[in-house]
Amino acid sequence: MLNKKDLLGLYDTSAEEIDEILTVAEEMKALLQSPVKQYNQLDGRALVTLFYENSTRTRCSFELAAKYLGANVVNIATASSSVQKGETLIDTGKTLDAMKVNFIAIRHPMAGAPRLLAKTVKASVINGGDGMNEHPTQALLDMLSMRQHFGKIKGLKVAILGDIKHSRVAKSNLFGLKKLGAEVTMYAPATLIPKDIDKMGAKIAKSREEAIDGANVVMGLRIQLERQTGGLFPSLSEYSKFYGVKDEIVQKYAAKNAIIMHPGPVNRGVELTPSLIDGQSSRIEDQVTSGVAVRMAILKLLSEYRENNL
Ligand code: CP
Repeated sequence: MLNKKDLLGLYDTSAEEIDEILTVAEEMKALLQSPVKQYNQLDGRALVTLFYENSTRTRCSFELAAKYLGANVVNIATASSSVQKGETLIDTGKTLDAMKVNFIAIRHPMAGAPRLLAKTVKASVINGGDGMNEHPTQALLDMLSMRQHFGKIKGLKVAILGDIKHSRVAKSNLFGLKKLGAEVTMYAPATLIPKDIDKMGAKIAKSREEAIDGANVVMGLRIQLERQTGGLFPSLSEYSKFYGVKDEIVQKYAAKNAIIMHPGPVNRGVELTPSLIDGQSSRIEDQVTSGVAVRMAILKLLSEYRENNL
């Protein structure tokens, strides 16, 4: 069982809790194969998705996960909500609490916003991505796809290439993968490597070849132009030429049967070549399916915690 009201990040989630989420998510992923996805673990519960930033995968999969398990779902598009009239995050949270919702899945541009909300509300808060801090459900779904492909996480060599500096996915993956015994190597232009990421356990490679050498998993990360203030690399075409993941480098340096991953949305031909994105080794579509399964598992486990402890 998850021993917490909220899921805010993998920095403060134990290896045992991650393992439990992945085990339940594997069961949920099997349920997703049925053409009729009508289960009752969350009957009568309510989820609100509260997204202050754009999303396709995360918001939609939270909604589907909750609906497949029988919950009611309301989506708040902050662009058309009372947030536009100046309502604060805390007041929005109190309003949702007063409606007796059980779960709030939040995405917010400010690091720490989900933690602030969690302290304020009785509902269980799930972090759907906060600024450049964490995106725990993305890392959990990545780990589910890895674990199902390789049968384990321990001992895997994971290479993460791309915009590490602005990436909450990179940080959550680093925390989670290290806890489960994987080795994480990162590579990006120096301007896109955050200070002290090596102190958090990442190995920093000096070249694409070094990063990918012997890797079981090659993960590209999106160049987040919306978070950059400019001047971090000359142009997308130069980024692709000198830092993008290329087929010939993967073929020459990665481990035999290495898989290609990307959290999406992908800039085709920038972080990864189209042939890697669509190729036999790609697990990008499987990651999306894992995303629904992981969110089903988290909702179920948090619901059990609520019923036993709150
Ligand atoms: N990977 C991810 O968070 O995608 P969305 O922005 O579409 O939710």
